Amino acid sequence: MAPYIIAIINQKGGAGKTTLAMNLAAGLTLRAKTIVIDLDPQGSSLQWAAMGTNAFSTPVEAVSGDWNAYGLRLKYKIYQYIVLDCPPSLDSHTSAQALLACDIALIPVLPSPIDLWASIKLSQEIEKTKKDNPDIHSYLVINQLEPNSALSNAMNEALKEFDIPVLQAMIRRRAAYRSAALEGISVYQMKGNGKRAVEEIEAIINEAIPL
Ligand SMILES: Nc1ncnc2c1ncn2[C@@H]1O[C@H](COP(=O)(O)OP(=O)(O)OP(=O)(O)O)[C@@H](O)[C@H]1O
Ligand SMILES: [Mg+2]
Repeated sequence: MAPYIIAIINQKGGAGKTTLAMNLAAGLTLRAKTIVIDLDPQGSSLQWAAMGTNAFSTPVEAVSGDWNAYGLRLKYKIYQYIVLDCPPSLDSHTSAQALLACDIALIPVLPSPIDLWASIKLSQEIEKTKKDNPDIHSYLVINQLEPNSALSNAMNEALKEFDIPVLQAMIRRRAAYRSAALEGISVYQMKGNGKRAVEEIEAIINEAIPL
């Protein structure tokens, strides 16, 4: 079976792409062979995997030179899941290729209407991609939701007007996500503190990723 490609994408910096990519990949690794491709010149997911003394659960690689969707599928055909950690830009060849290559685009957004509207250009890019990648699925993933609070009314209203559906599963602001990055592990490898975070990532996998 061809690998299932998951692009974690948003041109807005700091929305949680790398955090979602690394933890999602760790969860998928428990199910099937998975790899993270670091498409960001900042190299954040490669750096994450190199942090600390524990090995990260999932291989992380960069692609060099010019690449395309076809080449990616061929090169990584032994994997069932390929998670693309995209750069915070839509102007690069990289983001366009990632949208062309992927089966699903997950778009982490911070829980404020301003951040959501900053991603409007991305929803236009996804619409354009549908000419060449008609089966693409795309979902917003709310990240850094305040602990113990619901989405604001303003955010709920803004989401209704946005073309891309939002996953019911959301990610709250938790120290575990930051600690995992510092230790070079995923929330799955953390002791008790990671439990709630693991439940969130599992809910995202169960809702969005075909197994
Ligand atoms: N749910 C969360 N709870 C707490 N901290 C978080 C959460 N999600 C992300 N962070 C922190 O927010 C910062 C930005 O997250 P991250 O690096 O994943 O975003 P990004 O979209 O990949 O950024 P860039 O656009 O620079 O690639 C990091 O310090 C990360 O640890
Ligand atoms: Mg990043």
